[in-house]
Amino acid sequence: MSENANEMTGAEGVATQFTLADFIREQQEVYKGSGAFSSVLHSIALGVKIVSQGVNRAGLASMLGLAGSENVQGEEVKQLDVYSDEVFSHVLGRSGEFISMVSEERENMFQARAGGKRSRYVIAFDPLDGSSNIDVNVAIGSIWSIYRRVSDGWQVDPLDTSDYLQPGYLQVAAGYALYGLSTMFVFSTGHGVSGFTLDPSIGEFILTHPDMVVPQDGNIYSCNEANVRGWHRGVQRYVEEMKEGGNSARYVGSLVSDFHRTLIKGGIYLYPSDSRKPQGKLRLLYECAPLAFLAEQAGGRASDGKQNVLSLVPQSIHQRCPLFIGSKNMVARLEQLIADEEK
Ligand code: AHG
Ligand code: MN
Ligand code: MN
Repeated sequence: MSENANEMTGAEGVATQFTLADFIREQQEVYKGSGAFSSVLHSIALGVKIVSQGVNRAGLASMLGLAGSENVQGEEVKQLDVYSDEVFSHVLGRSGEFISMVSEERENMFQARAGGKRSRYVIAFDPLDGSSNIDVNVAIGSIWSIYRRVSDGWQVDPLDTSDYLQPGYLQVAAGYALYGLSTMFVFSTGHGVSGFTLDPSIGEFILTHPDMVVPQDGNIYSCNEANVRGWHRGVQRYVEEMKEGGNSARYVGSLVSDFHRTLIKGGIYLYPSDSRKPQGKLRLLYECAPLAFLAEQAGGRASDGKQNVLSLVPQSIHQRCPLFIGSKNMVARLEQLIADEEK
């Protein structure tokens, strides 16, 4: 092909972009990963593309509105929650192995595929995060976490809760998708955090944010301040300090969106416990722990107010947990104020 032809088609530019598939292949080579793990990552990426398409078409396809049921936490379920849950369970069933899954939308563990060899991995999902923002066309996301299966055996009876009741630092990988102005896929396999952006013209995720690092300090705090009266005095003091210090407040109300901003710009996201929610609102296994893994991989930190979120061992699959996450120094200051109030 002549140089002119290349200029006209932009073929070289597109063909030399580093894609998610390139990244997964490279990681498999460098860290001698098994093909099974790569296959799970490819399945999740496919699920994200499908959900992204569903999110884009939601208005057109009249997918907005209530699905007419409640999830296991008794919250309203929108149609996109159900759709996303089904998409991820189907695509993970394609990976050829028998994978145990946990989803926010289902009370019990379930299998993504009947029969076959048990996968070495188990997956916990928040298939659609920020669902209260669906109706108003504001960015939403998906969150996922992968653990190595610890229960014995390669055959039958594949569902064992012990596979999920592991501390977050044992996650093999974790990530999220953000369905925003662009669709992004951000994840870590324990070697830093990488962000990919979906190029809809070719249907590929392109590496746009290599080695993401959360600044050690920031000037944005993010919380639902309507709940302030029920918070621990230390958390109240922290927010007062933030206001006095001339910082900014930002709260989308989609955890993935608020976390993504925090990861890029620095700052702190807070979802404390309060008098009405003694364990907080967010779920440890498929909201707090995966984002804590990413925060730490990016040089930030996540705490429940006293301990590192990654050291918490879930007692049940839908357990809730207070969350303070973001810039290292800000999370440390918040923990200090909580500790001071308890002296
Ligand atoms: P989900 O849509 O998966 O149920 O999660 C909703 C969560 C999270 O995305 C968000 O940060 C938080 O709920 C908002 O809660 P408030 O409305 O109480 O602020
Ligand atoms: Mn959620
Ligand atoms: Mn959800």
